[in-house]
Amino acid sequence: SNPSILILPGDGIGPEVMAEVKKVITWYGAKRDLQFDVSDDLVGGAAYDAHGTPLHDDTMAKAQEVDAVLLGAVGGPKYDALDFSVKPERGLLRLRKEMDLFSNLRPAQCFDALADFSSLKKDVVAGLDIMIVRELTSGIYFGEPRGIIEEGNERVGINTQRYTESEIDRVARSAFELAMRRGKKLCSMEKANVMESGILWREVVTEVAKDYPEVELSHMYADAGAMQLCRWPKQFDVIVTDNLFGDLLSDAAAMLTGSLGMLPSASLGAPMGNGRPKALYEPVHGSAPDIAGQGKANPIACVLSFAMALRYSFDLGEEADRLEKAVEKVLADGVRTADLLGEEGVTPVTTSEMGDAILNALDAS
Ligand code: NAI
Ligand code: MG
Repeated sequence: SNPSILILPGDGIGPEVMAEVKKVITWYGAKRDLQFDVSDDLVGGAAYDAHGTPLHDDTMAKAQEVDAVLLGAVGGPKYDALDFSVKPERGLLRLRKEMDLFSNLRPAQCFDALADFSSLKKDVVAGLDIMIVRELTSGIYFGEPRGIIEEGNERVGINTQRYTESEIDRVARSAFELAMRRGKKLCSMEKANVMESGILWREVVTEVAKDYPEVELSHMYADAGAMQLCRWPKQFDVIVTDNLFGDLLSDAAAMLTGSLGMLPSASLGAPMGNGRPKALYEPVHGSAPDIAGQGKANPIACVLSFAMALRYSFDLGEEADRLEKAVEKVLADGVRTADLLGEEGVTPVTTSEMGDAILNALDAS
């Protein structure tokens, strides 16, 4: 049977950028004879409006069964006053939690045509292609005890950094697997100098490395890593790190390359019966209420998220390359959505014109 995809466009610009991905999926069916079983459903505010919950149980069940979930974005001012239990982001958090998506892949890639757009020197970022693997389901955001308690005559805010060996082992394996498909270089970042969890992290990663003799493993303290990431990011291929450090490092790395409208992501879980990992693909950006409904959104982050699905869920690496090259060509040709406008005198294209330009580049590939 055909590989299955569940599309959850969500709110704001989510449906706008997802419409362009649907065009790309249709292109693959028509021109490359790659058929996917695509279904569509609601998440976030859209699901709340329809069902009074940001993720219906039926949608959750479908997400568990498909080969890949593609999500647009959730949230918006309309839902800001809602109770926390039904806020749009709860839909996304539930998906991540119940699918147990512990490995978050955040590429930082710089297309040559946008190298001038970075806040760094052009030679530092031109051709940059690195991947940060962030542990997503454990660590200090989840560890117990947590809370704000009274102690003496003042309050204390408490969070706990906690990692089990198996949690470190599984995210390390996913990073090594990734390194095997890329440049076979992995840098693990923690703070083993001052944190117990960092000591254990380093030990477990070193142990897992024995199963991947071809991968060159290095370790770096996360603060030094942050510095190196800004100084000379091209020294890295894959970086693996915990939830907190990964949050910071991936946001910093993202900005090496420019616009939020360009950044894809993947969140992977354990392999299913067919050997494929559970997977959710989504752009890094949110629902962008400031530009929603105006045809201004850049669909590239969402399109590149689909390219990641082709590569990591469907083993279609060459087709993923094809799609990424099409995006690269469009950018090289000077096609720009409004968020990518650096120079004056260039007229921005709309979301759907950007999608059409990508299809044209695919046709020419
Ligand atoms: P945002 O990412 O939606 O927007 C930040 C800025 O970047 C805005 O100026 C926006 O116009 C621009 N931008 C974002 N994506 C763009 C694109 N594809 N093309 C062109 N410009 C783009 O973040 P913000 O404003 O903090 O949050 C807005 C809403 O989105 C909130 O409700 C927030 O909770 C939600 N959100 C959802 C996420 C998700 O679904 N994964 C992630 C981040 C925020
Ligand atoms: Mg963040």
